[in-house]
Amino acid sequence: KQGGSEAAKRRAGESAAERVADGQVVGLGTGSTAAHAIRAIGRRVDGGLDVTGVPTSFQSRELAREAAIPLAELDEVSVDLAIDGADQVADGQLVKGGGAAHAREKIVDAAADRFLVVADPTKEADVLDHPVPVEVLPSARTTVAEAVRELGGEPVLRRAERKDGPVVTDNGNLVLDCEFGEIDRPDELATDLSALPGVVEHGLFIDLADELHVGTEDGVTVRQL
Ligand code: A5P
Repeated sequence: KQGGSEAAKRRAGESAAERVADGQVVGLGTGSTAAHAIRAIGRRVDGGLDVTGVPTSFQSRELAREAAIPLAELDEVSVDLAIDGADQVADGQLVKGGGAAHAREKIVDAAADRFLVVADPTKEADVLDHPVPVEVLPSARTTVAEAVRELGGEPVLRRAERKDGPVVTDNGNLVLDCEFGEIDRPDELATDLSALPGVVEHGLFIDLADELHVGTEDGVTVRQL
């Protein structure tokens, strides 16, 4: 996946993993940056840390298993802290879903007492202008696409790279990547998208993130949001 250096992502992930305290339940995000956090938490578990992970995707579940992090489902625990990546960050608001995992990510990240975002500098922007992934029920693909056009967006069905056909999410749904240009009012767009019949979840994360860890080539900057 394009983006910043692996070293920058690793620093961000490791920095956020340091925030995890003994006995906590941690939401495990999806993507290459969150993967570094999961591995770092795994090393701390290896060293005796007691944590329970709540995965946000097939990928994060697999990584957590490899890292021997004990897991639980969201209906069994309450989440203290979530650590997750982002495709773009501007003014504390996020676009997520580059890995089509944003529906479960949003459920877990929103449920957490604190949500830490891990990113590299290429993710930061002044104004959100990244296409917004919208997960839709397969039967609502065309009606949601039409409604997105009426909202001023240009929807594109996400296609799989190694399959003839669309990307199917962990929930069995499809993804429309919706280009809106510069998003001046992400809160309003989020409300409009959520109101469309057949939309399962969109990738705008409004007022959810509490802390941003940005890894660079030689350090990490941490900002409260
Ligand atoms: C998954 O659907 C996304 O929301 C990811 O969290 C996001 O794409 C960040 O991934 P990277 O850290 O790999 O850029």
